[in-house]
Amino acid sequence: SCSVMTGFAQPPVNYDEAKVGVYQLPPLLITNSKTKVRSSSDWDHTRRKEVLQLFKENMYGQFPGPDAEMHVVMQKIDSSAIDGLAISKQVRIYLSKGENGPYIDLLLYIPANTTQPVPVFTSLNFQGNHNISMDENILISQHYLDFLKFKKADASPTRGVQERRWPVKALIEHGYGLATAYYGDLEQDHADGWETGIRTSLAHQLHIKPADWSAIGAWAWGLSRILDYLQTDKNVAATKVIVMGHSRLGKTALWAGANDPRFAAVISNNSGEGGAALTRRNYGETLSIITKAFPHWFISKYQSYQDDVNTLPMDQHMLLALAAPRPLYVASATNDKWADPYGEFLGAKNAEQVYALFNKKGLGTDQMPAPDMPVGNTIRYHIRTGDHDVLLFDWMQYIKFGDELVK
Ligand code: GCU
Repeated sequence: SCSVMTGFAQPPVNYDEAKVGVYQLPPLLITNSKTKVRSSSDWDHTRRKEVLQLFKENMYGQFPGPDAEMHVVMQKIDSSAIDGLAISKQVRIYLSKGENGPYIDLLLYIPANTTQPVPVFTSLNFQGNHNISMDENILISQHYLDFLKFKKADASPTRGVQERRWPVKALIEHGYGLATAYYGDLEQDHADGWETGIRTSLAHQLHIKPADWSAIGAWAWGLSRILDYLQTDKNVAATKVIVMGHSRLGKTALWAGANDPRFAAVISNNSGEGGAALTRRNYGETLSIITKAFPHWFISKYQSYQDDVNTLPMDQHMLLALAAPRPLYVASATNDKWADPYGEFLGAKNAEQVYALFNKKGLGTDQMPAPDMPVGNTIRYHIRTGDHDVLLFDWMQYIKFGDELVK
């Protein structure tokens, strides 16, 4: 999933820092009415809303409000998961009245030895909950089977296939819970996915037309519904839920964090183009490439910037700034040039000005750090040695970050 889709005429992908081009970022701290943003209150009351609106109108689309019809059914509880270290709960979150409409299957692990509510990482997964672990108790995702059917792919069991990305035991041992769900529960990830996803099935209930939001919007909205549930679970510390995502789901985590201030911290792992990386930098994937390969991720308006990204009224440092003043972590990987690691670093760097309004420290350096050397404070960054992926090294940094800033 890391190569350019063929069949589109594209200029060659640039990987030469000397050819990135000259660009000027839109000012983050000047309001639409040309006044300077001088304080955290100017940010909160005026500029933050304007910036959020820019991303809604030009990129990810609208973000509907809470779901009045949401209700949950506990499907399975295992009080001795992970060799007795954890409790697992599988909760079906119905998004409309009754049980015939769309639903999210949430898998929640909680440390077994705690009587206190715990902080929780929440993150969508790519291939169904049963993919994150060999744990036999995890129910096979029906929506993932539906997706395989759509793809006409072999539906053989795929339990634990993405286990390396989900070090559940390490999280549990450090006192964290993990809440995950399959992103395809909200919308299948292809150009026509909206037809069978919540953008269609909930259009009436949420008062929004499918084209007024996007796949990333639907996935991010699902994260907020997961948070609605988590805030009702007595084992979860309601104000300590950290949203995290990898790659396209890293873009999604950033958008969820931007819209939903209840998330205590936001983590982008290798989110790249349309995520943490500056769009104006011509390096690796570009706006033109991503909107042709994955048109459904964004509203159609975003395609109108294909020929000149410099006309965008925003850039991705402004999305990162919407996490402020909450802890924000941006991570890259050395081999993931497609995601433009330096562009991700600069996205984080340029978000610092908003954190400064809240007296929060950012990266603390202008220099791209060496591989595997995390930098920063309330905004953090690292570039891990290796491929486009999320590995134990990344998670160990997120745990440390959580320990220092959320727990
Ligand atoms: C593709 C896409 C990226 C995306 C990635 C992923 O490579 O071009 O924008 O982040 O898939 O989700 O793995």
